[in-house]
Amino acid sequence: MTLNITSDITKLGCAQHDADDPLRHARARFDLPDGVVYLDGNSLGALPVTTAAQLETCLREQWGRDLIRSWNTHQWVNFPRRIGDKIAHLLGAAPGEMIATDSTSVNIFKLLAGALSLPGIREDAKRRVILSETGNFPTDIYMAQGLNELLKQHYELKLVPADQLAHALDDTVAVALITQVDYCTGHLHDMAAMNSKAQQAGTHIVWDLSHSAGAVPVALAASGAEMAVGCGYKYLNGGPGAPAYLYVTRALQKNFVTPLAGWFGHQTPFAFAPAYTAAPGIERFLCGTPSVLAMQALDCGINTFADIEMSAIRKKSLALSDLFWLLMDQHCAADGFTCIAPREHALRASQLSFAHDHAYEIMQAIIDRGVIGDFRQPNLLRFGFTPLYTRYIDVWDAVITIRDVMQTGAWKAEKYQHRNAVT
Ligand SMILES: Cc1ncc(COP(=O)(O)O)c(C=O)c1O
Repeated sequence: MTLNITSDITKLGCAQHDADDPLRHARARFDLPDGVVYLDGNSLGALPVTTAAQLETCLREQWGRDLIRSWNTHQWVNFPRRIGDKIAHLLGAAPGEMIATDSTSVNIFKLLAGALSLPGIREDAKRRVILSETGNFPTDIYMAQGLNELLKQHYELKLVPADQLAHALDDTVAVALITQVDYCTGHLHDMAAMNSKAQQAGTHIVWDLSHSAGAVPVALAASGAEMAVGCGYKYLNGGPGAPAYLYVTRALQKNFVTPLAGWFGHQTPFAFAPAYTAAPGIERFLCGTPSVLAMQALDCGINTFADIEMSAIRKKSLALSDLFWLLMDQHCAADGFTCIAPREHALRASQLSFAHDHAYEIMQAIIDRGVIGDFRQPNLLRFGFTPLYTRYIDVWDAVITIRDVMQTGAWKAEKYQHRNAVT
């Protein structure tokens, strides 16, 4: 059951929903600036209140005072595994199946390459397709293209629209790379159904969970997922450029050859052996030295989910996006916005995007007024809902700000016409 947002809702009604919100205590876990409505946690999560102090301790008492001894005494060496286990818990995987490491792009490369050399795939001459989605996030497609280039175009990179993916999972597919939540539309794939289709076709899926983890309930083991990657800096609140994560189900790990055989993935890195022997478990997916400060920040980000049920996050997320959509229809109907997110809850993740001919300028104008979303090509205003800290009143204020910017024509100002490097 989702919260019932009725069409006669007022600002006072939004405040009442906040007062009744079972997640309202979680906002205090973040250090949010006054006067800002932050609707971009799907791109960069907000700063947890614990991060600064934990980084300060790591800097002064560990790096500064204990120096290199900290790899042992402060367990730096175990951070990727320890943090990986926490993410595993959040995403329905077992300890030892997830590791925090590298970027999502690099992890995609590792898993795609490894999947292509899995027994049953490698020797099947019929399986020549790397399957993905036309609208997938560009880095996913680039990494698949780059890998195929390296393999001398041995495979065909086949891109199909979202609604044809399940049908395209057949016995020609060597591996499929599927992003569960579309970064533009917010469309959510049914992971269990897709995994079952892949299993019937005897193939494997690498899931990109960048816009799912921390936003929608993910049950990796229960849904039959075998491999996944995702970003630490979005809904997981790990900080700008936070380490990503990588999941490989235990059953696949021992046959998995990572193409980036770095020393941290070695069975005994400090034996300094001349030949590479992969670590027996999930550690084999490490490559180089982990970034300790970034790991500390990611740890703080994941801790913001402590004692919170993903079902409560999902319920509030849908209520927030329902409210936003309803208020946009009520207050901005004549202003030329078209929402491209799925209406159906089962297909909608935790964001809404509105197409508009002047999306970039409008987004700049509302950011200037303290409502932060982002712009995505070619014409989208994108708003993410992060139930740990987004309030119903924030949604109200955001829509009223959009209405004002449209009514006054404030978005037409010269200063909003120039594109920044990051949009
Ligand atoms: C779906 C998806 N995959 C991958 C990435 C890129 O991840 P990274 O920068 O960690 O390589 C993003 C970044 O926004 C993304 O949205």
